[in-house]
Amino acid sequence: MLTNDELAKWDRENFMHPSTHLSQFARGEAAQRIVTGGEGVFITDRDGNRLLDGFAGLYCVNVGYGRTEISEAIAKQAHELAYYHAYAGHGSEANITLSKMVMDRAPEGMARVYFGLGGSDANETNVKLVWYYNNILGRPEKKKIISRWRGYHGSGLVTGSLTGLELFHKKFDLPLAQIIHTEAPYYFRRPEAGMSEDEFSTYCAEKLEELILSEGPDTIGAFIGEPVLGTGGIVPPPAGYWEKIQAVLAKYDILLIVDEVVTGFGRLGTMFGSDHYGLKPDLITCAKGLTSAYAPLSATIVGQRMWDVLMKGADEFGVLGHGWTYSAHPIGAAAGIANLKLIDDLGLVKNAGEVGAYLNKAMADAVGGHANVGEVRGEGMLCAVELVADRDKRSFLPASDGTGAKVVGEMVKRGVIARAMPQGDILGFAPPLCLSKGEADQIVAATSDAIKAVLG
Ligand SMILES: Cc1ncc(COP(=O)(O)O)c(C=O)c1O
Repeated sequence: MLTNDELAKWDRENFMHPSTHLSQFARGEAAQRIVTGGEGVFITDRDGNRLLDGFAGLYCVNVGYGRTEISEAIAKQAHELAYYHAYAGHGSEANITLSKMVMDRAPEGMARVYFGLGGSDANETNVKLVWYYNNILGRPEKKKIISRWRGYHGSGLVTGSLTGLELFHKKFDLPLAQIIHTEAPYYFRRPEAGMSEDEFSTYCAEKLEELILSEGPDTIGAFIGEPVLGTGGIVPPPAGYWEKIQAVLAKYDILLIVDEVVTGFGRLGTMFGSDHYGLKPDLITCAKGLTSAYAPLSATIVGQRMWDVLMKGADEFGVLGHGWTYSAHPIGAAAGIANLKLIDDLGLVKNAGEVGAYLNKAMADAVGGHANVGEVRGEGMLCAVELVADRDKRSFLPASDGTGAKVVGEMVKRGVIARAMPQGDILGFAPPLCLSKGEADQIVAATSDAIKAVLG
């Protein structure tokens, strides 16, 4: 077995990590953690640390670590049939069964499910389906996609464009021209302090309509949004937001893509965020919670209105020219089946709602009064603490201070992982859905102590 030093050296010399400061990492200045195992909500590393994972990996290990029900299902599938493709009508018991399980859980009005590998490729599929749909309908101009500033939808060419965060555009020549952005539904950062939530929702809907009119409604194919903004800051929508946005979309015949990569399969205390907020999607993006990340798998759930057009299009234009070698991979599907069963058997959707509410309240009670805490917000098993220079003026700390990252560093010393969200000083929490109230208390205590350690 390699020593820790050897492994650390190989890592710095060979491995190009995603979303990492490349030069600092190579020089040994940026943090490195070599993870060895996990159980429940805890992970362990090679230095002997046991850490409460308050972000469930990247909000994906929803059932928690070390679930043998899933690892055994994966092993059994690998022995029986590790792979066969899904092109030209081929399937396996695992991916067919999972398709039925997903559709049984999907919001009303959905017709079929297409499987990919991760959230980015699922959104890539969604954009292609919007273009295909409008071509079939003879509307070749209706192709632009409206996303929101601070939305997160992946980091490919199209999906990195959909993502409305500076870091994912800078020096990559993104966003691409067909992707445009509208106002983020971020009440704390509203333009005027005196606005009510409802007024701010109206403002967001008006901004959207202005954009549609200035671009030309006949050029807009779809709008994409997460039910709750995730990587952009963990921001639940202001009251009335989705209702007002959906009314604008309906007026201009614009499709709605609901990106449920984070919210799908329970995180908000409901099976889907669309159920939670009364959304009527044409396409739903799923990944993460579909397998709890035990194996890569994503899903695009196609709504009836789109499906009807795709059926007609097939009669006219033939085979759907879209697919990947690993679409609907049987090992991912086996993981998905075992994962969805476990979510039901352990009552994790309900637990996410109950313990999530407990976590949010305990967090607000513990740190909400601190002079540098602008807002504690969340929904279900999602929570965020936004750090500010002055809460009344809603003025922010200098980005160069890296205060959010410093607090997260102090939390790790106290045995808890949180995520410093990429834009702003925002501490993000998205623990596994099996979190207990005692574990929620641990997260809150570490957060409170760490904020005091950094900000006094
Ligand atoms: C809402 C949302 N959509 C899409 C993605 C992209 O998924 P992936 O990283 O699996 O490509 C993410 C990832 O965090 C996400 O949070």
